[in-house]
Amino acid sequence: MSKLADLKSRVSYQGLLLGGFALLASGLLGLADYNTRDVIQLRMEEDLRASLTQVIPHTFYDNNLLADTTYIDSTGEQLGQDKTLVYLARLEGKISAVSFRLVAPDGYSGAISLIMGIDKEGNVLGVRVLAHAETPGLGDKIEQNKSNWILSFNKRSLDNMTKKQWAVKKDGGEFDQFSGATITPRAIVNAVYRGLEFFKRHQVELLAS
Ligand SMILES: Cc1cc2nc3c(=O)[nH]c(=O)nc-3n(C[C@H](O)[C@H](O)[C@H](O)COP(=O)(O)O)c2cc1C
Repeated sequence: MSKLADLKSRVSYQGLLLGGFALLASGLLGLADYNTRDVIQLRMEEDLRASLTQVIPHTFYDNNLLADTTYIDSTGEQLGQDKTLVYLARLEGKISAVSFRLVAPDGYSGAISLIMGIDKEGNVLGVRVLAHAETPGLGDKIEQNKSNWILSFNKRSLDNMTKKQWAVKKDGGEFDQFSGATITPRAIVNAVYRGLEFFKRHQVELLAS
C-alpha cells in the first residue's frame, strides 16, 4: 500500500471511530434524558399536589385535583399569563373550590410566583408562595416556614373587606407589612386581590365546569 493510501485508510478509520463514539454518547445522553424526564415530571407533579393541598383543605374535594382542570382566558387580568389553568375541587361532582397560580410582578426583586385556593363563595382558602427572589431576612417572611404572614389571607374575600382594606397597614389597609420591607407584602396583597377579582369575573363559568 502506498503511503498516501495508508494515510487515507487511517483517517477514515479514525473518522468512523469518532463518529461511532459520538453516536454512542448522544444515544446515552438521550436515554438519560428520557429516564430523568419521567422523574422530573413526577417530582413536579408531587410539588404541585403538595402546594394544592396547602391552599385547598382536603375536606373540599373527593376528586383528583391534578386531573380536573380547565383553562380560563385571563388576558388583561394581570395574573402573569393570558390563559390560567384552574384546578377544580369537587365534592360528589359539584365544584366546591378552585385553585390557580398567579404572579405578583412587582416584588422588590422581581416576580413572585403564587398559588391560591378560593372556595365557591369567593373566600380565600389559602395562599402560598411558590417561588421568589426577595431578600432573606426582609422580604422572605412571605414563606410560611419563615412566618405566618401568608395565612392572614385566609377567609378574606372581596365581600368581607372593602377595596381600601385590601392593602398593607402602611397604606391604610388590613395586612401587616414587615419591618423595613413594605414592597414585598404590598405586591402580594395586590396580586391576591387581582386573583379574587379574576375568580369573581369567572365565577359562574367556573362553578358550571
Ligand atoms: C439591600 C436591600 C434589600 C431589600 N429587600 C427588600 C425586600 O426583599 N422586600 C421589601 O419589601 N423591601 C426590601 N428592602 C427595603 C425597600 O427598599 C423599602 O425601603 C421598603 O420595602 C419600604 O418600602 P416603602 O417605602 O414603600 O414603605 C430592601 C432594601 C435594601 C437596601
